Amino acid sequence: MSRPQAPRGTRDLLPAERTVFLRLEGIARSLTDRYGYQPIETPLFEQAEVFERGVGAVTDVVEKELFRVSAGRGEAERERWALRPEPTAGMVRAYVQHGMQTLPQPVKLTLIGPMFRYDRPQAGRYRQFWQFDVEAFGDAGPAIDAEIIELAMRFYAEAGLPAVELRLNSIGDPACRPGYIEALRSYFAPHTEALPELERARLVTSPLRLLDSKEPAMAALIAAAPSITDHLCDACAEHFAGVRAHLDAMSVTYRLEPRLVRGLDYYTRTTFEFFPVGHDGQQDALGGGGRYDGLIELLGGRPTPGIGFGLGLDRVILALAAAGVAAPDVAHVSSVVVGADPADTLTRLRIATELRAAGLSARADLGRRKLGKQLESAAREGAHFAVICGDELEAGQVLLRDLQAGTQRPVTVTELTRELARSEAQHRHGAGGPGGR
Ligand code: HAM
Repeated sequence: MSRPQAPRGTRDLLPAERTVFLRLEGIARSLTDRYGYQPIETPLFEQAEVFERGVGAVTDVVEKELFRVSAGRGEAERERWALRPEPTAGMVRAYVQHGMQTLPQPVKLTLIGPMFRYDRPQAGRYRQFWQFDVEAFGDAGPAIDAEIIELAMRFYAEAGLPAVELRLNSIGDPACRPGYIEALRSYFAPHTEALPELERARLVTSPLRLLDSKEPAMAALIAAAPSITDHLCDACAEHFAGVRAHLDAMSVTYRLEPRLVRGLDYYTRTTFEFFPVGHDGQQDALGGGGRYDGLIELLGGRPTPGIGFGLGLDRVILALAAAGVAAPDVAHVSSVVVGADPADTLTRLRIATELRAAGLSARADLGRRKLGKQLESAAREGAHFAVICGDELEAGQVLLRDLQAGTQRPVTVTELTRELARSEAQHRHGAGGPGGR
């Protein structure tokens, strides 16, 4: 039988990579606490309609990449589900479903978790990937637009990414966008024959989508297309000026990018994306977001403005590696309880249990092998101390060996807990000394 593999476009996060993820999640959590965003979790799958209506039926994410799921039994067979390709639509569904419109606004929520897109896998583009997402419902901006963007930039800075470029645009609203879409249609119409098949269809259904086409053949045409900036109504232009003024006030730098329409249909006004400086490819976007003032109503709520971002954690990790930023160490226990009598697992397990009950990090060596081998493996895994159970036990003592300093001395079992607790505390505070000796 052939050996099963992780599905194409997915990967196992082994301890080294999972540790990097946990570090990023820790930074994200600390930031969202500081900025007043509360954690939420939504199901990994929703009625497909949430995404079809929310993200838009004529988008790559829904048209080409939606991971449709069929439970295939009884009533569920009639339901149409999909794995979430992004979290915003599901969070809006939850906001409406749980009557969060009656809470003091804005309601500020955050979610970190896996997303699923049935895309063609390549570097930085996976079928299961992770996003750090924040959403603020109920504030029409523009100050909160700038605040959210600054939060994303701070995340990259705290993660240690040296140079991230913010690209910024406004794509108008239902008052001014139709005029722009007409201008786009007129611009692309004479080129219809030259357009790739999907783009030709989208010229009819959703001309704005042509601007984020990934087809190389489209690049030159897109570059010369009319600019939304010339078509904004007064209210949208004023909002956009407000966003820029607030970013300037916080010294957040940006590049104006009039072709930045984003790949999802729900956006209005502010849109933005983050790229490593000098990178342009679509699969290089580290994150993106924007305002979606019509989405909550579209999913059955009262008209309520909203804005948020989703940052691709997999891509942040790739960018950190490319920039040579050192990965954090995988956690290991600080003490290993070993013994001179290979068969006496009982004593070793009892002492390790006492240490752990006292809040210390310890494991017992439960293999029945010689002391030398037990010590070797404790040293190899990077433990700080070996607690050696030998003849001294008759006098109520063990040997505490500092594996890093190469010293050892007898201590009573009561002293042991105190000694190790002191050493762990010193370690946590960065002193790193071997138990004060
Ligand atoms: P998005 O631009 O589709 O926006 O995705 C956000 C980020 O997720 C991308 O910039 C990228 O870093 C990462 N990403 C997307 N697809 C993949 C993939 N196949 N493999 C690896 N990483 C990927 C959204 O999802 C919106 N919900 C953002 C938002 C929140 N807008 C408002 N609120």
